Amino acid sequence: MWAFCFILLTSYATLSECKAAAGKRHDVRHFPDGFLFGTSTAAYQIEGAWDEDGKSENIWDHLTHEDPCATKDCSNGDIADDSYHQYKRDVEMLRELGLDFYRFSLSWSRLLPTSFPDKINEAGVAYYNNLINEMLKYNIEPMVTLYHWDLPQKLQDLGGWANPNIVDWFGDYARIAFELFGDRVKYWITMNEPREVCYQGYGFVSMAPRLNIQGVAEYMCAKNLLVAHARAYHIYDEEFRALYGGTIGITLSTSWYEPESEREVEAAEDTTQFEWGQYAHPIFSESGDFPPVMKEKIAAKSTAQGFYRSRLPEFTPEEIEYVRGSSDFFGLNHYTSYLVYRNESVYTANEIPSYYDDMESMVYQPNHWDGSASEWLKKTSWGFYNLLMKIKNDYNNPIIYITENGFSTTSGLDDDDRILYYREYLDAMLDAIEGGAHVEAYTAWSLMDNFEWLAGYTARFGLYEVDFGSPERTRTPRKSAFVYKEIVRSRSLDWHYESDSTSMTIDEGH
Ligand code: NOJ
Repeated sequence: MWAFCFILLTSYATLSECKAAAGKRHDVRHFPDGFLFGTSTAAYQIEGAWDEDGKSENIWDHLTHEDPCATKDCSNGDIADDSYHQYKRDVEMLRELGLDFYRFSLSWSRLLPTSFPDKINEAGVAYYNNLINEMLKYNIEPMVTLYHWDLPQKLQDLGGWANPNIVDWFGDYARIAFELFGDRVKYWITMNEPREVCYQGYGFVSMAPRLNIQGVAEYMCAKNLLVAHARAYHIYDEEFRALYGGTIGITLSTSWYEPESEREVEAAEDTTQFEWGQYAHPIFSESGDFPPVMKEKIAAKSTAQGFYRSRLPEFTPEEIEYVRGSSDFFGLNHYTSYLVYRNESVYTANEIPSYYDDMESMVYQPNHWDGSASEWLKKTSWGFYNLLMKIKNDYNNPIIYITENGFSTTSGLDDDDRILYYREYLDAMLDAIEGGAHVEAYTAWSLMDNFEWLAGYTARFGLYEVDFGSPERTRTPRKSAFVYKEIVRSRSLDWHYESDSTSMTIDEGH
């Protein structure tokens, strides 16, 4: 084992990868008492019914209709999984899997077609009431995300997250959601993955609204989004918590950044601070505010580039206090890791100004890491362990809910790669729990195949395969669904478990 470990460790793997590879994976490991299991989806990715019953246009409707081949397969979410009509089947699948909770998101433009509180769309309210009530009938807890990337287009026309007024707009929308559903929803997530919203949508072109105003717009978005998140948190905290006793937090996308060599430790840490410390530091650190390294680097570069002030907006002291501590848990989406280095090339590789130029580092994934159907997703469970331990150590051991983790394949029911991914990541998570990380819930992404943003339907993340050619979008369990069901049922990870079933049943009590 140790010779094997030595080889692995010299190639930047960690002890946890080493342990897994050396045989520990064959033990049966148990999850702590009270640990919760779920799956996750998001409104635009599954609902369809894009203009039905009074729903108005959002930024993904707009993008995919204006530029139909913006997506890899020229697809859109007009129908997607048709969950607007098939929600009972979705709940049936949750019951088949025996899950504790289901994370889904609300469509702002379905609930508030004008974007504002002047008109509440009763059909939209009825849809979410039906879904929530159907889940509760079978003791499946709703975990509701308020914002999963589908901003009403009208608000985008007003500048979207770059407009500071969005703090009020989002606060109003959040209050209405708490009023409508707070009696039954006890788990709230304000925002999903701010980095993807701001960097990919405002500083680049890989998400709607594809503004590509580099080195400027992503930082304006980040500040407004954080204050808007805090607004929703405080509204819940002050007006609804005592009444309903729920919990509310934010979900961040958190990759692991591994130094390519010992010389690159600082570059990897700086990358971490830009990539998700940007959102974690203001909320979870003791001092609040953007990470010092971002403030310093962007201010210095802005001056040298001829700007009159830093391109990174400042929080006022009141805003720092308002945002600090505004999350009851660390909602964590995690998929993969990157290697990081910094050399002369970083000063010429990127546009100036730009986010990556500010960061001054390069990230990549070696070819020999196990890949998926998404070019950015490689299986590196050792990074998950490292990440969880870092969050524990850097932010005073917060409660962590894993709100997404998963693997993409192409179509097909035999998904051994996905099974291996889930097992390795759950194993790494159990290592971190043993190491003291306060992880209380795990959410598999995704319940079923769905619209994977600019990848369209080419990358499948589902435990259930969806037949997008059939009118009712037939859902069929993959092999991984049977394995996940057994993990949830037994509350343990057994590497030997194999299922040859092809039909799912609902176990007693679900
Ligand atoms: C993160 C996002 O929250 C989700 O919408 C997306 O489909 C998955 N990652 C997979 O890329």
